[in-house]
This record gives sequence, C-alpha cells and structure tokens, in this order.
Amino acid sequence: MTEAIKLNTGDQLPEVGFGFWKVEEEQIEDLIDYAVKAGYRHFDCACDYGNEAAVGKGLARVLEQKLCTREDLWVTSKLWNTYHAAEHVRPAVEKTLKDLQLDYLDLFLIHFPISQKYVPIDHRYPPGWFYDPDAETPGMESEAVSIQETWHAMEELVSAGLVKNIGISNFGTSLIRDLLSYAKIRPAVLQIESHPYLTQETLIRYCKQEEIAVTAFSPLGALSYVSIGMAGNGDTVLEQPVVQVAASHHGKTPAQIVLRWGIQRGVSIVPKSSRPERLSENIALYDFELTDSEMRAISALNCNRRFNDPGAFCEEAFNTFFPIYE
Ligand SMILES: NC(=O)c1ccc[n+]([C@@H]2O[C@H](COP(=O)([O-])OP(=O)(O)OC[C@H]3O[C@@H](n4cnc5c(N)ncnc54)[C@H](OP(=O)(O)O)[C@@H]3O)[C@@H](O)[C@H]2O)c1
Repeated sequence: MTEAIKLNTGDQLPEVGFGFWKVEEEQIEDLIDYAVKAGYRHFDCACDYGNEAAVGKGLARVLEQKLCTREDLWVTSKLWNTYHAAEHVRPAVEKTLKDLQLDYLDLFLIHFPISQKYVPIDHRYPPGWFYDPDAETPGMESEAVSIQETWHAMEELVSAGLVKNIGISNFGTSLIRDLLSYAKIRPAVLQIESHPYLTQETLIRYCKQEEIAVTAFSPLGALSYVSIGMAGNGDTVLEQPVVQVAASHHGKTPAQIVLRWGIQRGVSIVPKSSRPERLSENIALYDFELTDSEMRAISALNCNRRFNDPGAFCEEAFNTFFPIYE
C-alpha cells in the first residue's frame, strides 16, 4: 500500500499510481490484477490512451474477486481536447465511465489546455489529435472554447455525482490563477510532467500555496519517450552518477531512487510499466528515505527538459505548430 495526499476536498489521493499510457490492451486485465495484489489502488487513465475499456475489464475483475472494494480504488481519467465545449463534457465522462464500468470517477482532469474541433464519439473514438486523419494533409483544428466554459461544465459533473474531484493537467501558473478567479470548485489536483530533469519547483510551490495537490507524470523522465522517438537513450536520468550512487547506498534500483525522490517532494506519481516485476519495484518506496543532500543533488539535475511538449510534438507528428507553454 502507499501513503496518501490529502486533497483540498478532504479526499485522500494514493501517492503512487499506475499510469496506462501506451499499455497494450491485451495485457491490461492481468496487469491490474497483479497491481492490486502488489498494493496499487490508484489508476491513471484517459480517453486518449485508447484502452479504457480494457482497464474497465481489469477493474471489474478485481472487484468481482473482492481483492478490494470500489471505495479502496482511486480512478482518474481525463477530458480529451475535442470535448471542451460545455455540451460535450458530460457525454465524454459518461463514455469514459461506461468503458471503465464505473458509476463515478475519483478524479477527472482537463487533459490539456487545448480545445480542438469536436469529433462525435460514434464517428471516431478516441479522436486523437488529427481532425481528419484521412485528409490529404491531416492536421489539428482548434475550436475557440474558453477554459472557463469547460471548467463550469466540469463542476456540474461533481454536482451530478459523476466525479468526486476535478482538476487540470498541463496548466501553468497564469492559467491556474485565471481559473481560480471564477472557479466555484477549486481544482483538487494539477497533473504535470515532472522528474529530475524538469523539477517544476515554482509551479509546485505555487500549487502548494493554493492547496492544489500535484501529480507528476512521466516521473522516470525520458524512458517513456525513447520508443516514440521523442528522446534518445542517452537522455535517461537513471544513468546519472548521483542516482546510481544513491541506489547502491540504499540497496535500491535507480528507478526507485528517482520515484522516491518524487514522493519525498510531496507530489504523487503515476509511473507506468507493462512488466509485473517493475510494477512491484515502482511501489516499493516506503522502506527507505533519501537524505537531504541526496534530495538536493537529484533536484540539481534539473535542466528544464520537457519531453512531452505540444509545441514540439504537434508540429512533428501532427503537422501543426501548437505551443502552449511559452
Ligand atoms: N497528463 C498528461 O498529459 C500525461 C502525459 C504523459 C503521461 N501521463 C500519465 O503518466 C503515466 C506515466 O508516465 P509515462 O508513461 O510517460 O512515463 P514513466 O512512467 O515515467 O516511464 C515509463 C517508462 O519507463 C519504463 N519503466 C517503468 N518502470 C521502470 C523501472 N522500474 N525500471 C526501468 N524502466 C522502467 C517503462 O517501460 P516498461 O513498460 O517496459 O516497464 C516505460 O518505458 C502515464 O502512463 C500516464 O498515465 C499523463
């Protein structure tokens, strides 16, 4: 089991979760069974990962086998970019709930502060980034929807009992400050890329001040981006001498050092693995503690290296220049 972070709603977010981006559908049922037995209760999903129906089967199986109860689980999902208009938010979460075989989500996040032209669910699901993948030169099509409109529709999901907590992902301080000016329900969680090469100290400090919990995605850094050509083998933080030295000092793997650094900073993490032995490794973080100097040395690896940047990948993969952070 993992420790938990208390949200501004009073709910408890398990610190370590299992993220499903790029997990093959055929493997998911067995991985969830294994993960629950290994102590995972927090599952990080999204419409865009294209595998929520498989996650739903896995969750149904562990609940049926009474390995845990629904109340023990923490299931997060994310609103895709094509569903930002108020009238599309509820149908989007209803589709996610149907796929996940759940009647409520613990947390629903706006996946990106990017609004794209609507694609009906029965036309293509998940819709992905291209408006029309079959066009001669496919690209992204944006749609002018304010975050305010989307946020108010997210708030209605809480009143309707479909989601317990709402939050945001890939937002920066200015956008959060603006959102807080009209939010009737404050975001409970911000999910952002963070690892030793992208420590995001200012954003995390700001969230702490505003009582918004932070979840770090891609907590292992480059690893997830090598296979999709967005990082090179040499970009991995696991090879860094400070990480290696701490690993041998504590008798842990370099991945456990980097993940422990993540939770010891007070954020939750959602590492992904398709290998059972790594799922066990990635949650075994509670029988050691990094020293202050190890924490400082790992944080000093920061070089503001962002691997998941729409400003870069939208142009490379989706023929559309779409910066959001600059
Ligand atoms: N909100 C967003 O926009 C956003 C964006 C990206 C990701 N996410 C969420 O965050 C989750 C995690 O991020 P991520 O998948 O990008 O990256 P990650 O969890 O940091 O890294 C996953 C990669 O590391 C490998 N790995 C896992 N455990 C390992 C270990 N103990 N030792 C060595 N290698 C290990 C995995 O390979 P194997 O599978 O072969 O073990 C995979 O290649 C996602 O699944 C998703 O739920 C959210």
